[in-house]
Amino acid sequence: MRLFGALLNQVAQPVIFMKTLVTYFSRTGQTSRIAKEIAMRCNAHLDPIHAQAQGMTWLAGWRYNWQALVHSAPPIQRPVRNPANYDLVVIGVPISRAGLAPPVRSYIRQYAARIQQIAFFCAEGEGREERGFAELSKLCGKQPKATLAVARKCLPAIASRAQLIDFVDSIRGEGLDTSQAR
Ligand SMILES: Cc1cc2nc3c(=O)[nH]c(=O)nc-3n(C[C@H](O)[C@H](O)[C@H](O)COP(=O)(O)O)c2cc1C
Repeated sequence: MRLFGALLNQVAQPVIFMKTLVTYFSRTGQTSRIAKEIAMRCNAHLDPIHAQAQGMTWLAGWRYNWQALVHSAPPIQRPVRNPANYDLVVIGVPISRAGLAPPVRSYIRQYAARIQQIAFFCAEGEGREERGFAELSKLCGKQPKATLAVARKCLPAIASRAQLIDFVDSIRGEGLDTSQAR
């Protein structure tokens, strides 16, 4: 019986009781696809970040790049889920040469103090994910439990990528993982 209790502690507790939120910003849908896959696999709540001014026009694209370049934090809509209610918040962020997707910076500035543990993922970081994740950690004031960077060529088959499964395993369990889906 005692052995069973110990086993339950070791195995079931992180899986069953770890309340997880997956939050992300996605302009063209790639980050959203990965977020949904992660949330499904770890039974997490999903809460997209919405910028107050969003759009797919040329002007909106220019503004998005400019805000990333100057590290601005544009106004975002109030999230549906309160990150304080979760043991772990997984943050999905588009990263480019210009920098982090600005609405993610806004989210972190406003809510980092409520986050207990974090993990990060990005799509198509193209080698810039290390720097992007380091900036996110600094903004959060916490080291991520795990990180995942999915390369462009892996996106169509993301659901079957072993790296995504490793990432999910490591955020549900213990330890630090840095997964590169390439
Ligand atoms: C500020 C910013 C600007 C970007 N501009 C472009 C771009 O013009 N063309 C492109 O192919 N990717 C661009 N990216 C990279 C995309 O964000 C990247 O492909 C990402 O996977 C797409 O994420 P999303 O589909 O969730 O928005 C940009 C990323 C950021 C953060």
